[in-house]
Amino acid sequence: MNYKVPVIPGDGIGPEIIAEGKKVLEAAADRHGFSLDWIEYPLGAEHFLQTGELVSEETLKELSKYRAIYLGAIGDPRVKPGVLEKGILLTMRFYLDQYVNLRPVKLLEGVWTPLKDKGPKDIDFVVVRENTEDFYIGIGSRARRGRSHATFDVRRNLYSIKFGLDIDSDSEEIGYQIGEVSKEGCRRVIKYAFDLAMKRRMQVSSVDKANVLSDIYGFWREVFLEVAKDYPQVSHDFNFVDAITMWFVKNPEWFDVIVAPNMFGDIITDPGAMIQGGLGLAPGANLNPEGTSMFEPIHGSAPKYKGQNKVNPVATIWAGAMLLEHLGEDAAAKDVVAAIERNLYEGRIKTYDLAGSSTTSEVGTEIARLVGIV
Ligand code: IPM
Ligand code: MG
Repeated sequence: MNYKVPVIPGDGIGPEIIAEGKKVLEAAADRHGFSLDWIEYPLGAEHFLQTGELVSEETLKELSKYRAIYLGAIGDPRVKPGVLEKGILLTMRFYLDQYVNLRPVKLLEGVWTPLKDKGPKDIDFVVVRENTEDFYIGIGSRARRGRSHATFDVRRNLYSIKFGLDIDSDSEEIGYQIGEVSKEGCRRVIKYAFDLAMKRRMQVSSVDKANVLSDIYGFWREVFLEVAKDYPQVSHDFNFVDAITMWFVKNPEWFDVIVAPNMFGDIITDPGAMIQGGLGLAPGANLNPEGTSMFEPIHGSAPKYKGQNKVNPVATIWAGAMLLEHLGEDAAAKDVVAAIERNLYEGRIKTYDLAGSSTTSEVGTEIARLVGIV
């Protein structure tokens, strides 16, 4: 069997970590009798600065023909924050309708966690982040009160009516952003979370802020309850986003599958990564179960480490294991995760973030070697 897999190394440390991911996935393919052909796409800052193009419709169409894309990282200090992230990364997630952003938070044996008295048996949950709606839909603007084109006056409605503030000055500038969730958008991702819980410990925790943003997240809750009715065997609970970050630190063992709207899912997976040993270890999958999915580390492009062969490639290699699983190569995927576990457990060859001094490529080479013997 041969798989053609588009690969987007991207910016900053992206190319270095993707090189190690490819190395390990090829070792797994060799062992399990299949092959991988990488189709490289040079998307990212360099391409944008040279051509002015972020990602073309044609490229998106081409990408949509494949089942899985392997992505390094997007983001570069030479380009204004948000331009590449929105113009490339979010565009791909949205265009390809990758409505599930799956982020396992699992502390592996031998990895240090900042949580006192917690170990691998306590830190093992999965965040299912909605990936196509919420405050990420890109509707918003800047406006200035007192000009005829500034018709959308959020602050006036909110503040002047509720608190009686005087904001009639001409210089009053506002920014606003709209969040939206749809019934089907909530349903499909919440259903994914329940199906996943059926294969795990039968528990789904919802994240929202229904006590304040009640229109958007009250709606999310309603849909959640509707879906939950179809899964009487699975227990569920509701968590406000601020509170759940607290429980991550105090009682991570409470969680099995967590389902969250896009922005809260983004926020909680950073502390999630920290308790599993750091951003260098946290993988993610942007899934469209019926279409094209994309696999990436959840960390960014870390421009200050670019080209130093220093950063931890494990998150990217682990994301690669998720890619193999998605392609149906379960045994190969398991070997890659087992090789990562063994490398971390042995603790000889590790990068600086894990208090080691090995290079990115030494870690990749070692994990590729272990794939052949685990
Ligand atoms: C992530 C990142 C992205 C997000 C950024 C880079 C757009 O933080 O994947 O978690 O907000 O989704
Ligand atoms: Mg993030």
